[in-house]
Amino acid sequence: MTIESENDLKALKKIGRIVGLVMREMKNQIQPGMTTAGLDQIGSDLLQKYGAHSAPRLIYDFPGQICISLNEEAAHGVPRDRIIRPGDLVNIDVSAELDGYFADTAMTIGVPPLSPLKQRLCHCAQRALRKAIASARAGRPINVIGKAIETTARKGGFSVIRDLPGHGVGRNIHEEPTVPGYYAPSVRQRLTEGLVITVEPFLSTGSDRVVTDADGWTLRTADGSLSVQYEHTIVITREAPIIITAV
Ligand code: CO
Ligand code: CO
Repeated sequence: MTIESENDLKALKKIGRIVGLVMREMKNQIQPGMTTAGLDQIGSDLLQKYGAHSAPRLIYDFPGQICISLNEEAAHGVPRDRIIRPGDLVNIDVSAELDGYFADTAMTIGVPPLSPLKQRLCHCAQRALRKAIASARAGRPINVIGKAIETTARKGGFSVIRDLPGHGVGRNIHEEPTVPGYYAPSVRQRLTEGLVITVEPFLSTGSDRVVTDADGWTLRTADGSLSVQYEHTIVITREAPIIITAV
Protein backbone atom coordinates (compact mmCIF):
# COMPACT_ATOMS: atom_id res chain seq x y z
CA MET A 1 0.00 0.00 0.00
CA THR A 2 0.92 3.63 -0.17
CA ILE A 3 0.25 5.76 2.89
CA GLU A 4 -2.35 8.36 1.94
CA SER A 5 -3.44 9.79 5.28
CA GLU A 6 -2.43 10.32 8.87
CA ASN A 7 -4.90 7.60 9.76
CA ASP A 8 -3.16 5.10 7.45
CA LEU A 9 0.16 5.80 9.14
CA LYS A 10 -1.34 5.65 12.63
CA ALA A 11 -3.08 2.31 11.97
CA LEU A 12 0.01 0.82 10.37
CA LYS A 13 2.18 1.95 13.30
CA LYS A 14 -0.27 0.33 15.69
CA ILE A 15 -0.03 -3.14 14.13
CA GLY A 16 3.70 -2.61 13.52
CA ARG A 17 4.27 -2.03 17.22
CA ILE A 18 2.21 -5.11 18.11
CA VAL A 19 4.18 -7.48 15.85
CA GLY A 20 7.39 -5.89 17.14
CA LEU A 21 6.36 -6.47 20.75
CA VAL A 22 5.30 -10.07 20.05
CA MET A 23 8.67 -10.62 18.33
CA ARG A 24 10.59 -9.22 21.32
CA GLU A 25 8.63 -11.24 23.86
CA MET A 26 9.03 -14.51 21.93
CA LYS A 27 12.76 -13.81 21.64
CA ASN A 28 12.99 -13.29 25.40
CA GLN A 29 11.10 -16.49 26.17
CA ILE A 30 13.05 -18.94 23.96
CA GLN A 31 14.50 -21.73 26.08
CA PRO A 32 16.28 -24.94 25.03
CA GLY A 33 13.93 -27.89 25.51
CA MET A 34 10.89 -25.93 24.35
CA THR A 35 9.11 -27.14 21.20
CA THR A 36 8.41 -24.82 18.28
CA ALA A 37 4.69 -25.44 18.99
CA GLY A 38 5.25 -24.19 22.56
CA LEU A 39 6.94 -21.06 21.25
CA ASP A 40 4.08 -20.53 18.78
CA GLN A 41 1.61 -20.73 21.67
CA ILE A 42 3.40 -17.83 23.39
CA GLY A 43 3.06 -15.75 20.21
CA SER A 44 -0.53 -16.81 19.72
CA ASP A 45 -1.49 -15.75 23.28
CA LEU A 46 0.18 -12.36 22.77
CA LEU A 47 -1.54 -11.70 19.43
CA GLN A 48 -4.84 -12.49 21.10
CA LYS A 49 -4.05 -10.17 24.00
CA TYR A 50 -3.52 -7.30 21.53
CA GLY A 51 -6.61 -8.20 19.50
CA ALA A 52 -4.49 -8.90 16.40
CA HIS A 53 -4.82 -11.81 13.97
CA SER A 54 -2.03 -13.97 12.59
CA ALA A 55 -1.62 -13.06 8.91
CA PRO A 56 -0.48 -16.49 7.68
CA ARG A 57 -3.44 -18.09 9.45
CA LEU A 58 -5.91 -15.46 8.25
CA ILE A 59 -4.77 -15.28 4.61
CA TYR A 60 -3.24 -18.69 3.87
CA ASP A 61 -4.81 -20.96 6.52
CA PHE A 62 -1.30 -21.69 7.83
CA PRO A 63 -1.32 -24.48 10.47
CA GLY A 64 0.02 -22.24 13.26
CA GLN A 65 0.08 -18.55 14.21
CA ILE A 66 3.77 -17.71 13.80
CA CYS A 67 6.25 -19.11 11.25
CA ILE A 68 9.12 -20.71 13.20
CA SER A 69 11.98 -22.14 11.13
CA LEU A 70 15.07 -23.84 12.60
CA ASN A 71 18.60 -24.06 11.17
CA GLU A 72 18.28 -25.46 7.61
CA GLU A 73 14.62 -24.41 7.48
CA ALA A 74 14.50 -20.98 5.85
CA ALA A 75 10.86 -19.91 6.10
CA HIS A 76 7.24 -20.85 6.74
CA GLY A 77 8.25 -23.42 9.36
CA VAL A 78 5.16 -25.06 10.83
CA PRO A 79 5.15 -25.04 14.65
CA ARG A 80 5.29 -28.66 15.84
CA ASP A 81 6.96 -31.00 18.31
CA ARG A 82 10.52 -30.20 17.12
CA ILE A 83 12.59 -29.39 20.19
CA ILE A 84 14.74 -26.24 20.30
CA ARG A 85 18.27 -27.17 21.33
CA PRO A 86 21.42 -25.27 22.36
CA GLY A 87 23.21 -24.01 19.24
CA ASP A 88 20.01 -23.77 17.17
CA LEU A 89 19.17 -20.84 14.92
CA VAL A 90 15.50 -20.04 15.51
CA ASN A 91 13.87 -17.86 12.86
CA ILE A 92 10.66 -16.26 14.14
CA ASP A 93 8.53 -14.47 11.53
CA VAL A 94 5.58 -12.57 12.99
CA SER A 95 3.00 -11.02 10.69
CA ALA A 96 -0.45 -9.94 11.77
CA GLU A 97 -3.53 -7.85 11.03
CA LEU A 98 -5.43 -5.29 13.07
CA ASP A 99 -8.31 -3.12 11.77
CA GLY A 100 -7.50 -4.10 8.17
CA TYR A 101 -3.79 -3.20 8.34
CA PHE A 102 -0.89 -5.67 8.19
CA ALA A 103 2.74 -5.59 9.37
CA ASP A 104 5.52 -8.17 9.06
CA THR A 105 8.77 -8.63 11.01
CA ALA A 106 11.26 -11.44 11.53
CA MET A 107 14.43 -12.19 13.42
CA THR A 108 16.71 -15.20 13.84
CA ILE A 109 17.70 -15.88 17.41
CA GLY A 110 20.74 -18.04 18.15
CA VAL A 111 20.37 -20.24 21.23
CA PRO A 112 23.78 -20.25 22.98
CA PRO A 113 26.37 -21.58 22.55
CA LEU A 114 26.62 -20.54 18.89
CA SER A 115 29.41 -21.68 16.56
CA PRO A 116 31.54 -18.88 15.04
CA LEU A 117 29.97 -19.64 11.63
CA LYS A 118 26.43 -19.19 12.98
CA GLN A 119 27.44 -15.95 14.71
CA ARG A 120 28.98 -14.59 11.52
CA LEU A 121 25.90 -15.55 9.51
CA CYS A 122 23.55 -13.75 11.94
CA HIS A 123 25.73 -10.63 12.08
CA CYS A 124 26.10 -10.50 8.31
CA ALA A 125 22.32 -10.75 7.75
CA GLN A 126 21.67 -8.07 10.39
CA ARG A 127 24.16 -5.82 8.62
CA ALA A 128 22.46 -6.55 5.28
CA LEU A 129 19.10 -5.50 6.74
CA ARG A 130 20.57 -2.25 8.15
CA LYS A 131 22.35 -1.36 4.91
CA ALA A 132 19.34 -2.19 2.74
CA ILE A 133 17.01 -0.05 4.87
CA ALA A 134 19.54 2.80 4.86
CA SER A 135 19.72 2.67 1.05
CA ALA A 136 15.94 2.94 0.53
CA ARG A 137 14.69 6.40 -0.48
CA ALA A 138 11.84 7.76 -2.60
CA GLY A 139 13.03 8.13 -6.21
CA ARG A 140 15.68 5.43 -6.09
CA PRO A 141 15.31 2.07 -7.89
CA ILE A 142 13.84 -0.79 -5.86
CA ASN A 143 17.04 -2.59 -6.80
CA VAL A 144 19.11 -0.51 -4.35
CA ILE A 145 17.72 -2.82 -1.66
CA GLY A 146 18.75 -6.07 -3.35
CA LYS A 147 22.10 -4.61 -4.28
CA ALA A 148 22.83 -3.67 -0.66
CA ILE A 149 21.80 -7.12 0.58
CA GLU A 150 23.77 -9.01 -2.08
CA THR A 151 26.93 -6.93 -1.62
CA THR A 152 26.85 -7.39 2.15
CA ALA A 153 26.21 -11.15 1.87
CA ARG A 154 29.09 -11.63 -0.60
CA LYS A 155 31.50 -9.73 1.63
CA GLY A 156 30.60 -12.11 4.45
CA GLY A 157 30.99 -15.17 2.21
CA PHE A 158 27.29 -16.05 2.28
CA SER A 159 24.52 -16.55 -0.31
CA VAL A 160 21.25 -14.66 -0.68
CA ILE A 161 18.29 -17.03 -0.98
CA ARG A 162 16.79 -15.84 -4.24
CA ASP A 163 13.39 -17.51 -3.89
CA LEU A 164 12.37 -15.39 -0.90
CA PRO A 165 11.94 -11.69 -1.73
CA GLY A 166 10.57 -8.77 0.25
CA HIS A 167 7.16 -7.45 -0.75
CA GLY A 168 4.62 -4.69 -0.50
CA VAL A 169 2.49 -4.90 2.65
CA GLY A 170 -0.17 -2.87 4.49
CA ARG A 171 -3.71 -3.73 3.39
CA ASN A 172 -2.73 -7.34 2.85
CA ILE A 173 0.25 -9.42 3.89
CA HIS A 174 1.69 -9.82 0.40
CA GLU A 175 1.22 -6.95 -2.06
CA GLU A 176 3.03 -5.49 -5.02
CA PRO A 177 5.86 -4.71 -5.56
CA THR A 178 8.24 -7.66 -5.21
CA VAL A 179 11.49 -6.55 -3.55
CA PRO A 180 14.26 -9.00 -4.57
CA GLY A 181 17.06 -9.68 -2.09
CA TYR A 182 19.60 -9.45 -4.92
CA TYR A 183 20.25 -7.11 -7.83
CA ALA A 184 17.62 -8.03 -10.44
CA PRO A 185 18.10 -6.09 -13.72
CA SER A 186 14.54 -6.95 -14.85
CA VAL A 187 13.08 -4.95 -11.95
CA ARG A 188 12.83 -1.35 -13.12
CA GLN A 189 10.37 0.17 -10.65
CA ARG A 190 11.38 2.97 -8.33
CA LEU A 191 10.57 3.49 -4.68
CA THR A 192 7.85 6.09 -4.16
CA GLU A 193 6.96 8.27 -1.20
CA GLY A 194 4.66 6.52 1.28
CA LEU A 195 5.16 3.06 -0.22
CA VAL A 196 5.04 0.34 2.45
CA ILE A 197 7.34 -2.65 1.89
CA THR A 198 9.26 -5.28 3.77
CA VAL A 199 13.03 -5.56 3.65
CA GLU A 200 13.93 -9.15 4.50
CA PRO A 201 17.36 -10.57 3.72
CA PHE A 202 17.49 -14.38 3.79
CA LEU A 203 21.13 -15.47 3.90
CA SER A 204 22.51 -19.00 3.76
CA THR A 205 25.85 -20.72 4.21
CA GLY A 206 25.35 -22.56 0.89
CA SER A 207 22.47 -22.83 -1.57
CA ASP A 208 20.58 -19.80 -2.88
CA ARG A 209 17.43 -21.91 -3.36
CA VAL A 210 14.79 -23.48 -1.12
CA VAL A 211 12.67 -26.61 -1.51
CA THR A 212 9.28 -27.33 0.04
CA ASP A 213 9.13 -29.89 2.83
CA ALA A 214 6.77 -32.89 2.81
CA ASP A 215 4.43 -30.90 5.12
CA GLY A 216 3.65 -28.63 2.14
CA TRP A 217 4.66 -25.47 4.03
CA THR A 218 8.18 -25.48 5.45
CA LEU A 219 10.82 -24.17 3.03
CA ARG A 220 14.29 -25.59 3.62
CA THR A 221 17.56 -24.82 1.89
CA ALA A 222 18.04 -27.04 -1.15
CA ASP A 223 21.37 -28.40 0.16
CA GLY A 224 20.59 -28.46 3.90
CA SER A 225 22.82 -25.45 4.64
CA LEU A 226 21.97 -22.99 7.41
CA SER A 227 19.67 -20.06 6.81
CA VAL A 228 18.77 -16.90 8.73
CA GLN A 229 16.37 -14.02 8.07
CA TYR A 230 15.83 -10.53 9.50
CA GLU A 231 12.86 -8.44 8.42
CA HIS A 232 11.24 -5.07 9.04
CA THR A 233 8.24 -3.33 7.54
CA ILE A 234 9.19 0.18 6.41
CA VAL A 235 7.56 3.26 4.88
CA ILE A 236 9.54 4.94 2.08
CA THR A 237 10.14 8.68 2.44
CA ARG A 238 12.49 11.25 0.88
CA GLU A 239 14.76 10.74 3.88
CA ALA A 240 15.46 7.66 6.02
CA PRO A 241 12.55 5.19 5.94
CA ILE A 242 10.16 4.92 8.87
CA ILE A 243 10.71 1.50 10.46
CA ILE A 244 7.21 0.43 11.40
CA THR A 245 8.07 -2.78 13.25
CA ALA A 246 10.96 -1.50 15.42
CA VAL A 247 10.13 -1.38 19.14
CO1 CO B 1 7.75 -12.09 7.44
CO1 CO C 1 7.62 -10.70 4.60
